Amino acid sequence: MTERKKLYIATFGCQMNDYDSLTMRRLLSGTHVTVADPSEADLIIINTCSIREKAENKLYSLAGRYRALKKKRPDLKIAITGCVAQQEGRRLLDRMPYVDIVLGPQGIYSLPGILSREAAGGRVCLNRLDPDFSIPVVRAAEPPDNPVRASVTIMQGCDNFCTYCIVPYVRGREISRPEEDIMTEVRQAVEHGAREIVLLGQNVNSYGRRAGGRPVKGNPGFASLLEKVNKVPGVERLRFTTSHPRDLDEAAISCYGRLESLCEHIHLPVQSGSTAVLKRMNRHYSREEYLEKIAMLRKACPDITITTDIIVGFPGETGEDFLQTMSLLEEVRYDQIFVFKYSPRPGTPASGFDEQVAADVKTSRIEAVLRLQEKIGLEQYARMEGQICEILVEDVGKAGDGFMQGRTRGNHVVHFRGGRELLGSLVDVRIVRACKHSLRGELVQ
Ligand code: SAH
Ligand code: SF4
Ligand code: F3S
Repeated sequence: MTERKKLYIATFGCQMNDYDSLTMRRLLSGTHVTVADPSEADLIIINTCSIREKAENKLYSLAGRYRALKKKRPDLKIAITGCVAQQEGRRLLDRMPYVDIVLGPQGIYSLPGILSREAAGGRVCLNRLDPDFSIPVVRAAEPPDNPVRASVTIMQGCDNFCTYCIVPYVRGREISRPEEDIMTEVRQAVEHGAREIVLLGQNVNSYGRRAGGRPVKGNPGFASLLEKVNKVPGVERLRFTTSHPRDLDEAAISCYGRLESLCEHIHLPVQSGSTAVLKRMNRHYSREEYLEKIAMLRKACPDITITTDIIVGFPGETGEDFLQTMSLLEEVRYDQIFVFKYSPRPGTPASGFDEQVAADVKTSRIEAVLRLQEKIGLEQYARMEGQICEILVEDVGKAGDGFMQGRTRGNHVVHFRGGRELLGSLVDVRIVRACKHSLRGELVQ
């Protein structure tokens, strides 16, 4: 076998991009081996995100660094993939003469073909979005480096068109994957050592609604998919992300507490506590309707961990609207939140709305949200002190030598003293201390 070339991938953005990066490694595994240092690579891929301006800018700063590498080694190939590639297309080739390949999220599957023709030279851009596209099943020749948790994409794209969001433009129309492809990937992941499966999509609760213009065979729906994955031998833990509050239905809620592997956690992005703002965001639910879903979840699963995303400074957000977001945080008491300053994205409706909120107002609002959540989060985490929790050991610990880390079923990160041999196992840990975003535990023998 000829020696494999060296591949380096820098990944930004959400789990859909992590999944795509893994797919590219798999697609190229016959010809390329992944390295940790970009200066050694023959091929560098920057898998980009354009959800906020800051994310997009990361591409431009990083690409400058790789340009310097290419000056020293002209044979180096540089590819840009992901959502900025989709959004900007050929403009990236025009702007960055040292970039060889630009591929949107659907284009990555052509990578092996493009590279095998590379001798012919020429620069390539693929960023057409095919509404009938279906995600191929890419078999992995070897297990990933850390196989404990595996993500499986169940749908791509999004049809919701929240007025601030670029995703529907860069990932295209919502298309669900056929159930048999999902099950094939789940089984493969388990064979490779996965104990936890995370089902991925921008709007998982509408799974089955559309696949290439048609409903998925028999339109099984999301709850039925959860039931099937739950039954796969070896799947100890099951999670999914992301849910849209409007589409989260009773059938899915009733899976909590009923399906043994379904973990007691939901990430349910609210975005704002003000019904008026939610309306302008095109979210299709009111504050009250969101709170009803929370109540239903807590009824089905009293211990459920709830996390969310918040945007501050959406166009027209008044001081009063903002206070409603603050009061919602106190009412729901999330364990963790992700909060963002509104960032206008090209071509989205909200970027053209009047009454854009001033930068300093966004800053003071995000700071206020973070201060409040720090207090609530600590109180939520402190409630766990003294409890004995089941932990899936996922990694060597970042808390120092001799530490391992894992997660509770409620998705709290726990650091504890233990050896590497525990990697991938389920252990019981007593929670001894709550920190800001994690817990400290002790193994229970
Ligand atoms: N599909 C998921 C998440 C999509 S992106 C959902 O519907 O919730 C992840 C988060 O980024 C969003 O929940 C939102 O809080 C944030 N986000 C998206 N567009 C944004 C923008 N233009 N400015 C600031 N935050 C944004
Ligand atoms: Fe974006 Fe809204 Fe779709 Fe989420 S549901 S990806 S926020 S358009
Ligand atoms: Fe970013 Fe694209 Fe995901 S814009 S958040 S990488 S879908």
